[in-house]
Amino acid sequence: MSVTVRVPAKVNVQLAVGAARPDGFHDLANVFLAVGLYDEVTVEPADSLTVTCTGPGADQVPLDRTNLAARAAIALAERHGLGDDPKVRIHIAKDIPVAGGMAGGSADAAGALVACDALWGTGASREELLDICAELGSDVPFSLVGGAALGTGRGEQLEPLDVHGPFWWVFAVADGGLSTPAVYREFDRLTPRAPEPVASPALLDALRTGDASALAATVTNDLQPAALSLFPSLKATLDAGTEAGALAALVSGSGPTTAYLAADEAAARRIADALTASGTCRTARVAPSPAPGASLVTG
Ligand code: C5P
Repeated sequence: MSVTVRVPAKVNVQLAVGAARPDGFHDLANVFLAVGLYDEVTVEPADSLTVTCTGPGADQVPLDRTNLAARAAIALAERHGLGDDPKVRIHIAKDIPVAGGMAGGSADAAGALVACDALWGTGASREELLDICAELGSDVPFSLVGGAALGTGRGEQLEPLDVHGPFWWVFAVADGGLSTPAVYREFDRLTPRAPEPVASPALLDALRTGDASALAATVTNDLQPAALSLFPSLKATLDAGTEAGALAALVSGSGPTTAYLAADEAAARRIADALTASGTCRTARVAPSPAPGASLVTG
């Protein structure tokens, strides 16, 4: 018996970042949009807790108890009296860029949680699953729910948003990764007095109406200057996407993946080809949005 769950990547169409809080986190107005690039997490009974991973960048994924998917399984087992060493094999079929600012690790955690809940018949409520997600990381609750949502607090308090699509995206995967804490530290250095983060009404309106041009005019990422400061070559990638006709070009989350909003699917494919040909990124991927959250794969 095994259970497989499919989980989407995300792009932040608005990432407004406030000043560092006493606990080290930053208050956010974080508008998440789930995109159609997916990891698949499969769980099955085993002699001990094991994690395996295949796909692009799999060699950079930790395979011990520090893997966020393993931590999700342990957290669920502990809460349901199954001990702190669940006998489960977790296999991650990776397609979301690793350490790319697209919440791949968070997706795997949400996937493992939903999969183990089904495998063990723990019957956890949605609320409990969301609680565990929030303990695991700021972006994990959104991986569970998908669609579009406004995240406040450190990003974990979610309010679902009305969204009409499809919005077509291109993602340029960079050579190398960026550490999220390092990007936030650079943000603090560059932004001594960050204002209170507030969601943009015009951006929420563009999501609601499915208007790609209006969305392009309103996307922002306060972490972008920090990501560019630590990874200056991203500027050339962003310029190549803009020259190729992207309606908007921005760093995805803490980077170094960059995201390009296209007018439609054909434009997205043209921009992806141009980005690949530009030699300024490792690879370019096309994906529509919104996408559903963590979902059981049946059959
Ligand atoms: O919550 P998560 O484990 O994904 O956060 C990773 C790191 O990113 C945190 O340790 C912190 O340095 C930074 N972070 C932050 N403010 C947030 C979310 C993340 O400073 N709202």
